[in-house]
Amino acid sequence: MDEVKRIMELRELLEYHNRRYYIDNAPEIGDIEFDMLMHELERLESLHPECYDPNSPTCRVGTDLSNDFATVPHEYPMLSLSNTYSREELIDFDSKVRRGLDEGTAIEYVCELKYDGTSISLIYEKGALVRAVTRGDGVKGDDVTANVRTIQRIPLRLHGDFPERFEIRGEILMPFSVFDRLNIERVEAGEQPFANPRNAAAGTLKLQNSSVVAKRRLDCYLYYIPTPIPAIESHFDSLHKASEWGLNVAGNYKMCNSIDDVWSYIEFWNEKRGELPVPIDGVVIKVNSYSAQEQLGYTAKSPRWAIAYKFKAEQACTELLSITYQVGRTGSITPVANLSPVHLAGTTVKRASLHNADVIAALDIHEHDFVLVEKGGEIIPKIVGVDHSRRTEGAKPVEFITICPECGMGLVREEGEANHYCINPNCPPRVVAAIEHFASRKAMNIEGLGGEIVDLLLSKGKINTVADIYTLRGRRSELIGLEKVVDEPDDDSENIVEDEPVSLANMFDADFESRLKSQGTQRRVFRMQERSVDNLLNAIERSKSAGLAALIYALGIRHVGESASKDLAATFKSMDALLAASVEDFKRIDGVGEQMANSLFDFFSDFGNRMIIDSLRAAGVVMESTSEQSSSQFEGMTFVITGTLSRGREEFKRMIQTAGGRVSDSVSSKTTYLLAGESAGSKLAKAEKLGITILDEASFIRMLNGN
Ligand code: IVH
Repeated sequence: MDEVKRIMELRELLEYHNRRYYIDNAPEIGDIEFDMLMHELERLESLHPECYDPNSPTCRVGTDLSNDFATVPHEYPMLSLSNTYSREELIDFDSKVRRGLDEGTAIEYVCELKYDGTSISLIYEKGALVRAVTRGDGVKGDDVTANVRTIQRIPLRLHGDFPERFEIRGEILMPFSVFDRLNIERVEAGEQPFANPRNAAAGTLKLQNSSVVAKRRLDCYLYYIPTPIPAIESHFDSLHKASEWGLNVAGNYKMCNSIDDVWSYIEFWNEKRGELPVPIDGVVIKVNSYSAQEQLGYTAKSPRWAIAYKFKAEQACTELLSITYQVGRTGSITPVANLSPVHLAGTTVKRASLHNADVIAALDIHEHDFVLVEKGGEIIPKIVGVDHSRRTEGAKPVEFITICPECGMGLVREEGEANHYCINPNCPPRVVAAIEHFASRKAMNIEGLGGEIVDLLLSKGKINTVADIYTLRGRRSELIGLEKVVDEPDDDSENIVEDEPVSLANMFDADFESRLKSQGTQRRVFRMQERSVDNLLNAIERSKSAGLAALIYALGIRHVGESASKDLAATFKSMDALLAASVEDFKRIDGVGEQMANSLFDFFSDFGNRMIIDSLRAAGVVMESTSEQSSSQFEGMTFVITGTLSRGREEFKRMIQTAGGRVSDSVSSKTTYLLAGESAGSKLAKAEKLGITILDEASFIRMLNGN
């Protein structure tokens, strides 16, 4: 069959199944079948570049090209809504609407949820998405089409009797589940978590790299068509039509004939909002008929035919017991309020972040104050005020600590920074966090070296710095049987701490032994077993070739994140060049400002850091940019993989291929090496017979790393 015809056919087919899955919630085919169709399309499109279409389902994954957001004017200004907070204000709105319309006109209101994300304007032409623009200043916004195309819930093509050209608006949201996971990842990577799903959605939409946007799994609900469409006479009909064309309109809008009905809708959703997968912060009430809307018109800022009712953030008042100061990976100090446990929006809150000294000062908190805790869109509860009437006489104002609670070193607060820092590089939590960060997935990616293991190795004196990780191989026998005893409260239902994203128990591998003793607490003994030790040592060995960008990021230099690390590696290409660079040299990189350049220079000038880098180099950690050396140590070699390895075969296959080698399925005289895992069978026997060199995983990794 004609390949070009097949491309068109596949696009249509995939669009259909996307719609069944994301819009209708009624998938007809399984993931595997879907992926197969997608792969076929990808393959054919790569053979036919002339068929490129930004709206092809294959473009959903985004690109790595940088987005430069152009500013585009809105065809209809993006207005806001006036807010109301009480039933009285709604009654007031209703009377104004009645006064504005001919006497006796029956009024219908459409009630909808007020989604708490970031608004978007979509333009469809001939049924294809052509542009997506943020609200901006209401008159003009940023063209974020490339990013929006990655959102699965936004159809790239419509079907049915859609108008030739129209605009539809809605809200881009980050579901709670995605938000929680993203924040855990950010904390693990040493990045600042997002305060709430709204900020996370808005931040994601403005990312430069649309493939990262694609991975964030944003959601979108559409709620308003500003373009007049001849056949449509009311808002209700427009929503109905939009769903028919394949657009994602939330199903929970409702027609109401009186403010009493509106109020029931509000009460219902105020109660149920916790059950939704995405955040809402109120209800929007719209006059249904377009002719009535026209009669009512607009003020400079908002339509007179619609209003928002905002839910009250749930609050609770509780006693401040104490403030704990946590020392982070970079030495930043975070004050945390320990509260007398209080029930709030379905969970028990015991702690709340106080962020920094400015926040404490602004709240003017005194010791043992009764504080107001609120959960708005935020997952982490925050303290929004103090009940002054309950302050004990003579209570002292809370004063921010001046010395590090962990090591006693004087804290520093640099100009322009909100945070206090402990600058002692040997401060224990900094060391644990720094090593944990070094091993994290986006850094050196040493699986099995999480916080608890790092803690264990540090406390038993097995390591002191990141460089010591690479000496562990020679001390395998000392590691086997290392034990850690952890006492955890028996009943954790009363112990839900909202702002503690990572629980202790799940940081351990499944093959760590766990014994339970019940005495009000659970005592768990985690013991490192032979297999875990070997997996860990293999992971450490593999990490040597993580590459320069990963290494720079892994070093945990203040202000230097993942993407800056990539830029630095691409520009400087070697650790030696970084060690020799001046502040000016760093500043020449796009995106590296004064602050980051200084931080880099200070880091690489520090004697202790240079020692660590030397030890890493001596251990065989790759210090050059891998893109340059696109290694070829396996050039001309053919590998066969057999038996059970510590990771999937695909991963080993990838390693071999990146190093220039070939992977074959069967052993023959042409095979150079057999990589044999545990319980290898017939292939091992055949290779032995043919006299082919057999590698176990550890020697393979050593060979990969060039020793
Ligand atoms: S209608 C002219 N409907 O709330 C009316 N807005 O303060 C246009 N929002 O900027 C808005 N859910 O971002 C409308 N169901 C809904 C909404 C909604 C959330 C947001 C939107 C808008 C803001 C208004």
